[in-house]
Amino acid sequence: MELPPEIARVLVTAAELERVVGELAARLEQDYEGREPVMVGALTGAVVVLADLARRVRLPAQIDFVSVSSYGNQATSSGQICWRKGLSLDIRDRDVVLVEDIVDTGETVACLQRALAAEQPRSLRTLALLDKPSRRRVEVRLDYVGLEIPDEFVVGYGLDYAQRFRNLPYVGVLKPEVYA
Ligand code: IMP
Repeated sequence: MELPPEIARVLVTAAELERVVGELAARLEQDYEGREPVMVGALTGAVVVLADLARRVRLPAQIDFVSVSSYGNQATSSGQICWRKGLSLDIRDRDVVLVEDIVDTGETVACLQRALAAEQPRSLRTLALLDKPSRRRVEVRLDYVGLEIPDEFVVGYGLDYAQRFRNLPYVGVLKPEVYA
């Protein structure tokens, strides 16, 4: 397979992603049997994983998206609003699954968890397709993790560098000289 010149190598193939998403879907099916969870994705990165995951989960589910704005440490520690586009659905008393593409320092997920919890859902769990635990600055609870990955900048399957590469069907490592 020919890679774009900016991509050093494939870290997670499309087939591996399909397997991982299938496993995550199976766990959600078990844990949410008899319920109708609301799957909330953080734009734009989570679009791809949420679209694949939602179609694999054989449960009645609802889908919503929030658009995360840039944040500073201040905003996260004081629990201020961290989204530009909030929820469309009312999640009060609902079972909510926050779906993230990747968790790095943990700041984004921490802020989203606080903001979603403030809407008083019945339950709130967090799913991350990819986790870079070595970079964590804020401790966050992740209930479902697809894959732990090393500290490298990755793109594809929703993840971008400067809005590029989101539609690659695999997760690839970006050559460091591209962002250096
Ligand atoms: P955190 O707040 O540091 O955990 O970062 C989370 C966000 O940073 C993710 O939702 C991504 O948008 C972005 N991000 C972190 N690491 C990567 C990466 O390796 N590739 C692309 N985006 C990343």
